[in-house]
Amino acid sequence: MNCFGCCRKSLIDENRNSLERTKHRKEGASFATLVNNISFKSDASKQRAIAEEIKRIGDGGNAVETFTFHELAAATKNFRTECLLGEGGFGRVYRGCLEQTNQVVAVKQLDRNGLQGNREFVVEVLMLSLLHHPNLVNLIGYCADGDQRILVYEYMALGSLEDHLLDLPPNKKPLDWFTRMKIATGAARGLEYLHESANPPVIYRDFKASNILLDENFNPKLSDFGLAKLGPTGDKKHVSTRVMGTYGYCAPEYARTGQLTTMSDVYSFGVVFLEIITGRRVIDSYKPMSEQNLVQWAQPLFKDRRRFPEMADPLFRGNYPLKGLHQALAVAAMCLQEEASTRPLISDVVMALEYLVVKDSGPDGSSKFPIPASPSTPERRLARNKSKSFKRDHSLHSQSSIEDE
Ligand SMILES: Nc1ncnc2c1ncn2[C@@H]1O[C@H](COP(=O)(O)OP(=O)(O)OP(=O)(O)O)[C@@H](O)[C@H]1O
Ligand SMILES: [Mg+2]
Repeated sequence: MNCFGCCRKSLIDENRNSLERTKHRKEGASFATLVNNISFKSDASKQRAIAEEIKRIGDGGNAVETFTFHELAAATKNFRTECLLGEGGFGRVYRGCLEQTNQVVAVKQLDRNGLQGNREFVVEVLMLSLLHHPNLVNLIGYCADGDQRILVYEYMALGSLEDHLLDLPPNKKPLDWFTRMKIATGAARGLEYLHESANPPVIYRDFKASNILLDENFNPKLSDFGLAKLGPTGDKKHVSTRVMGTYGYCAPEYARTGQLTTMSDVYSFGVVFLEIITGRRVIDSYKPMSEQNLVQWAQPLFKDRRRFPEMADPLFRGNYPLKGLHQALAVAAMCLQEEASTRPLISDVVMALEYLVVKDSGPDGSSKFPIPASPSTPERRLARNKSKSFKRDHSLHSQSSIEDE
């Protein structure tokens, strides 16, 4: 019996035993079984099985489409260089226009010599077929013709956060404070959905500025789910995996042990949030030695409030609310705690950031701030978990962009 056969059998058994469970919870279990059972071989029968499974568990009206290579070649003028939007570890990304609907899309073609492969492709399609939130990019469809692996996404007009934040060309307008807070808040909401609404929870594992895409109004959406991992089930507290991800964004305990939890994503959020506030790259080899690692550079500054303005991006030219800066840095410092259990839940982060987005929250832009100032204690975390219907202990997940176990 192939892995999908196993998956169906376990689903049938589960459904027999749990009539009272909600539809949402059953879908979560089937998704977990499916992803965990994929063996990632790329023969034709497996491809067909994957396509059938995606259709079966897809979200009805939201199900992803399958495209032929011919359709996507037509959409991108034969993958012409002038349509190129960017290139990452997976391959090249092109702007395209679907002939049948005239819809503008982004077409990501797997580089067959690249480091990322079929496993990431399958996980990306499965995850984005099932997970839907305004702060996650929408997968329109995919192509698995022959050895082609192509993903088709909604087009995000303003590209990635990285394009607007780091190494800006002199003629490009820098993002203002409130736009940055809006982007951070939306991205945190995307993580909150993955950690606290998805069932089982999903650990994103590749949170970084280039994976936060922006629509025409600077609304952020998380992209690239190829490294995402399902959180632990049963009594497990973490997922064990080979460490993968992007250097600098990876939580220290995950890099050390390979044990992945949702707190690893919270750490990566802290890194990106610090990039947002400072306009500095997490690792920048062009800076003096003592400033090359952003988190190490920030640690002594976090301890001295008088030095907080030194951490604000000089491109703000002083146009930011001082208290807002203090509070934003407090949130970043909490997310970057060495000890994973002292980091806040992402929902606490969202709550704090929502106050930083509001322009008229007080003369200094911060008067209603909900004090995330002290880190979540394990007790507080436990109390919150009990009040939720889903399991949200530490789930296991890792870094990005190479290959998993
Ligand atoms: N849906 C999209 N709409 C518009 N532009 C996109 C879209 N997806 C990707 N891009 C552009 O293509 C670039 C490359 O994206 P890609 O995810 O392949 O690489 P990356 O994020 O830079 O690196 P990595 O492979 O490590 O994730 C992005 O930085 C962005 O500018
Ligand atoms: Mg990416």
